[in-house]
Amino acid sequence: MNDEAIDVEAMFDAARAVQAKAHAPYSRFPVGAAVLTDRGNIYAGCNVENASYPLGSCAEASAISAMVAAGEYRIVAVLTVCEGEQLSTCCGGCRQRIREFAALDTPVYAAGPEGVRAAFTMEQLLPASFGPEHLVGFGGHRS
Ligand code: THU
Repeated sequence: MNDEAIDVEAMFDAARAVQAKAHAPYSRFPVGAAVLTDRGNIYAGCNVENASYPLGSCAEASAISAMVAAGEYRIVAVLTVCEGEQLSTCCGGCRQRIREFAALDTPVYAAGPEGVRAAFTMEQLLPASFGPEHLVGFGGHRS
């Protein structure tokens, strides 16, 4: 899918709406994420923290879970929205989570409350990465 076909505004709106639902009482840093699939659907998720801090999960993980639960496995664009003045991008772990379902040229947008601040490709965020294709031929299953 080329960049013009991506409704970034719809992704931003979805991420912003779910960001408001974040459970982030410990960091006070709510995050919203939206993934667009090859079927044209948007799945959104927010961060869900836990009193046992390491058990918290990122917004991107929640959005990916919603996508997979709906039976979809191909991400064509990602958008995250964070608060604050600084540019916040996906954490390292989430870059790998997205990589599982995205091509290297997949755009990943980083937004603040006012809108998109920067755009990267998957490959820019996770260069020389390891992904599902490296396991082809080893007997595992790839959906
Ligand atoms: N967070 C995300 O949800 N996504 C990211 O990519 C960066 C960090 C969350 C995790 C935690 O709940 C809070 O932001 C502060 O790190």
